[in-house]
Amino acid sequence: MKYKKTEEDKHSFSTMIMESSEYSPNECVFQDNEHGVWLYHADCLEFMDILIKKYPEGKFDMIFADPPYFLSNGGISCHAGKMVKVDKGAWDKSQGPELNHEFNYSWLSRCQKVLRPNGTIWVSGTHHVIHSVGFAMQQLGMKILNDITWEKPNPPPNLSCRYFTHSTETIIWAAKNEKSKHLFNYDEMREINNSKQMKTVWTMPAPNGDEKGFGKHPTQKPVRLLERIISGSTNVGDFVFDPFSGSSTTGIAAIHLGRRFVGTELEAEFLALSIKRLKDAISKRKSHLYLASEG
Ligand SMILES: C[S@@+](CC[C@H](N)C(=O)[O-])C[C@H]1O[C@@H](n2cnc3c(N)ncnc32)[C@H](O)[C@@H]1O
Repeated sequence: MKYKKTEEDKHSFSTMIMESSEYSPNECVFQDNEHGVWLYHADCLEFMDILIKKYPEGKFDMIFADPPYFLSNGGISCHAGKMVKVDKGAWDKSQGPELNHEFNYSWLSRCQKVLRPNGTIWVSGTHHVIHSVGFAMQQLGMKILNDITWEKPNPPPNLSCRYFTHSTETIIWAAKNEKSKHLFNYDEMREINNSKQMKTVWTMPAPNGDEKGFGKHPTQKPVRLLERIISGSTNVGDFVFDPFSGSSTTGIAAIHLGRRFVGTELEAEFLALSIKRLKDAISKRKSHLYLASEG
């Protein structure tokens, strides 16, 4: 896949013209230059390969990645009181630990290159994927800053009664490399935490019905979680990238907080959902200025 180099604009992605590939059409499906939002129907690896050529010094101030967890392998879970098979889609199937790790190393190495020198990356996951992510970050020489435990106060019960009830996800926060001078909005985090230093355990419910008003993504993250991540590690106007956008929760939070957002997603269904959510957030932002808040 190649890109056509046109006039450079440091605030824009509108000049990215890509060729389709066997994996994806690789086209921009939603763009709002005024609010700084670009969503691509693209394979994130192919997309980042192009960005690396276009921006050898890096482009993004922050990346949030919620990659496939590789947990759709016939297990069971509980949904609305009923036993259901864990099957989130073909994109979530495991290919075995070695290939899964190869995939994680592969997209993380590209993320490292598209980050600006002082940029940071946040990656969420359960035990199915997060240890491989942490190991790949170490292999790549990233600097691990924190691991956040996101605790869900209302998890589905464990039906087999042979395990503790799964109620947390881990989010690793890392800088591009050991030399990075990463941004942490310490005062803002302290302020929203009743003037106490914010700890690494964050208790927040999974997305509620309001956040799923335009449709559901099987692994949708709460907007509030992304607002905290973005406001803690970026400034207004910064570029935030999400390679595995899903329903574009990262984009919604970025719009609320006045940051620019670039996302890639492979599935047409989730892109359609994203576009509805992004348009809604933009229309609300015209009249409101949202701020990430505790409570
Ligand atoms: C865990 S979900 C992300 C959910 C998202 N955080 C949200 O709040 O909606 C991962 C997403 O990555 C997408 N995906 C998987 N492989 C991809 C790839 N190579 N490039 C772009 N998107 C991909 C899947 O279709 C899925 O929607």
